[in-house]
Parts: sequence; C-alpha cells; structure tokens
Amino acid sequence: MNDAAPLLACENLSLDLGGREILRNIELQINPGKVLGIIGPNGAGKTSLVEILSGRYAPKTGKVFYKGKDITDSHLYERSRIGIGRTYQAPVVPEDLTVGQTLKAARQAYKPNLTRFDAEYASDLVNFVVDESVPTSVLDTFNRRKLSLACLLLRGPELLLMDEPAAGLINSEIDEIDEILRMLSKEMNIAVMIVEHRIELLETIADNVIVMDAGEIIAQGHLHDIIDSPVVRAAYFEAVD
Ligand SMILES: Nc1ncnc2c1ncn2[C@@H]1O[C@H](COP(=O)(O)OP(=O)(O)OP(=O)(O)O)[C@@H](O)[C@H]1O
Ligand SMILES: [Mg+2]
Repeated sequence: MNDAAPLLACENLSLDLGGREILRNIELQINPGKVLGIIGPNGAGKTSLVEILSGRYAPKTGKVFYKGKDITDSHLYERSRIGIGRTYQAPVVPEDLTVGQTLKAARQAYKPNLTRFDAEYASDLVNFVVDESVPTSVLDTFNRRKLSLACLLLRGPELLLMDEPAAGLINSEIDEIDEILRMLSKEMNIAVMIVEHRIELLETIADNVIVMDAGEIIAQGHLHDIIDSPVVRAAYFEAVD
C-alpha cells in the first residue's frame, strides 16, 4: 500500500460494448471522507464507469488503482474483499429470503465472525427498521436501498460506488439518504462516489463533481464552479428536461 496515493484512481479508461465506444479517456480520483458526484444525461456512460471501477467490466484501455496498487484485472469479489462496495441503479435484494436471513447471509459471506449485533448496528446506521421476519420481496424501494446498504456496511467498506441511490425515492426519502451518505462520508471517513441524474441532488452533498457526456468527462470541480460553464449547460441542461 502507498499512503500518498489516492484511495481509488483510474487513468485513461476506455470501454467498447457491442462494437461501440462507450467510454473514452476517463481519469478520476476518490479519497476517504469525500463525496464525488458523477452526473450526465442518459447514456453518458455513468453506470458503465461504475461497472469498470467495481470490476464487472474490463476496460479496453487504462488502469484502475486502489491505494496505489493496480487492480485493473481484479474480479468483483476481490475488490469487494479489499473494501470496494457498490450499489445498483435498481436496488438488488434476494427475493426469496427474509430480512433477517439476508443480513445473516451478508455477514457470513465475508466475515463469518460478525454477529447479529453487528447486523443490528449496520441496520441502525442506515435507519433500517423492518422486522427480520419480513420477506425482502415485499420491501419498497427505499427499504431495499437501505437493506442493500446495511449489507454492504457489514463488510466494512472504505469506498462506496453508488449508482443513482436516490432513484425511485420521494423527496423526504432522498433527504434521509443524503443524511446517511453524509454521515458515512464525514463521520466514518468512507469515500463515496455517487452517480446522480439530477444535478440539484448533489448540491448539498458532493465535495466535487464530474460531468460526463457521450462517454467523456467534459467538466470537473466544485458544483458551483462548473454548473454555469457553457459546455456543461449545452451537454447537460439541454439534454435533460
Ligand atoms: N451491454 C451493453 N451493450 C451495448 N451497449 C451498451 C451496453 N450497456 C450500455 N450500453 C450503452 O452504453 C451507453 C452508456 O450506458 P450507461 O448505462 O453507462 O449510461 P448512463 O449514463 O448510466 O445512463 P442512465 O442515466 O440512463 O443510467 C448507452 O448508450 C448504452 O446504450
Ligand atoms: Mg446508469
């Protein structure tokens, strides 16, 4: 491990899917205690970037580094073990288990020494208050997102890659998710990368923002410094209604 290195960094990432260029020359860094927002119109390549950083897609060119170590060829599960957690645009929970069984499976999967008290602690951190006998299949989107996050927190992640964590939520729920993410970042020092469609949702939470369009980074910096740039307005605001 290299202490001076960013927690996660990537350089010159490109990706082709189905014979099409999806990402081009992506470079970014993510650090502990910071929230990096990734915004851009539909099809900009945001989810594809998460897929590469989490290890589901292999890039065509470029490298991904974690604590200075090249992890470009590491699998999803290896990245999970070293502290990289991810959530999905559509929240994924096992449909045939109860809440209690899901939390038990999550704690046993990576850290068999964790107890039900650890699961309760992780649930408390994300305000997940659903009885453990409830089948996960009946959970609404908000509770699915919270349960997925509680399961991830049981692994003690240092980095969370979150693909549209506010999708499908109403405003009061989004405010609660924001509070949770702020706590994870600022109090637990977790590095958080949030893909978000709506720029206003990053305003209160992101330390830095990267704007993507058509597979490229077209701007980055503090939201207030880039929001009025002509290139961002042309690509983003004219594309989103
Ligand atoms: N498996 C695939 N095969 C071919 N093309 C794909 C595949 N997955 C995604 N794409 C294309 O790659 C581009 C980027 O998709 P991606 O899902 O990364 O965008 P996004 O920014 O996450 O969009 P959204 O805001 O709609 O979630 C889109 O044009 C999409 O159609
Ligand atoms: Mg997406």
